[in-house]
Amino acid sequence: MWLRLGSSVGRRLMVQRQRTAVSHTTCTCMYMSDGSGPSNGKIGGKKGQTMALVEKMRDKLDRDSTLHQGDSWEELWQEGVTPWDLHQPTPVLQQELDTTALTSTSTSSSVGKRVLVPGCGSGFDLITLAERLGQDSVIVGLDISTTSLQRAQQVLLDHHSSSNTTSTGTVLLAQGDFFERPDSWDTVFSTNKDDPSKSNTCIPSFGSSFDLIYDYVFFCALPLSLRPQWGATMASLLEPSQGRLLTLMFPILPDADPTRGPPFPVTVQDYQHVLQCHGVVMESTEPYASTQTVPSRVGKELVCWWKHSSTVSAAAGEEDHVPTPVSKL
Ligand SMILES: C[S@@+](CC[C@H](N)C(=O)[O-])C[C@H]1O[C@@H](n2cnc3c(N)ncnc32)[C@H](O)[C@@H]1O
Repeated sequence: MWLRLGSSVGRRLMVQRQRTAVSHTTCTCMYMSDGSGPSNGKIGGKKGQTMALVEKMRDKLDRDSTLHQGDSWEELWQEGVTPWDLHQPTPVLQQELDTTALTSTSTSSSVGKRVLVPGCGSGFDLITLAERLGQDSVIVGLDISTTSLQRAQQVLLDHHSSSNTTSTGTVLLAQGDFFERPDSWDTVFSTNKDDPSKSNTCIPSFGSSFDLIYDYVFFCALPLSLRPQWGATMASLLEPSQGRLLTLMFPILPDADPTRGPPFPVTVQDYQHVLQCHGVVMESTEPYASTQTVPSRVGKELVCWWKHSSTVSAAAGEEDHVPTPVSKL
């Protein structure tokens, strides 16, 4: 079972979603949440408080000249400087997994079940993936920060104690660097304590390729110089024949300084530039805005699905397709 967007259903959904206009207004406070999280001043409070946290985050990362800035991310988590955190799953992912046309493209039952979320942060979206993809799925939440994974573990445990859902996938939390080989990642927690194959350091056991990779607020968190490496790593981790990459592109801010971040403003072309050279191309639908995002991110996000070009239907002639992003319409 896998997500396929080339169908008429997929196209109808795209058109519907395109009706959500993408604002070209620059918002200096790009991480502001909808206020649904705790009122600790990090989100949901005054714009100035959030901006102060954004500035603190930028200061720390600016001063860190190491390649992948792992210590700084860990310190940000330890200090509670996490202005990006929605404190809830994004409704966009929920809607994508609920409404995107699902079509069987393989007889393999494992297809679509090995999922990676790089830079998973506090892990709310891992719950969405595990519940929507079902009990055969294994969702790996990867983060370079140990403290972020402790937070994610608590989020998963809290959800488990208050949820009646039984047929969910297994969530593994892995500490490691996205840019390093998966066999260097350490599984630090599993929601499936009964299955030893899923509860130890087992990432190499299901290979280094994933059926689905989901990127939200990870690409934009990286220094611009790491974007080519992000593209190469994504391409190498994506299962070649059926794998799908779901990017929830954020923040789309056409009028903002693209060199100022994180979050560094993104465009569709930024992703395309670093993926296409590795043979990862857009699926047949063009990027679209979801009607479901949190209020503060309306107009700043676009949904896009990608896959290796060898898996794009030749009949559909999608390989050379250069879509017009919604943000430019
Ligand atoms: C801006 S936060 C976004 C977190 C989460 N995706 C969200 O939407 O709330 C970026 C996350 O990526 C993690 N991170 C940064 N560089 C990383 C790397 N090279 N490998 C793995 N995780 C990384 C950080 O620790 C942080 O939790």
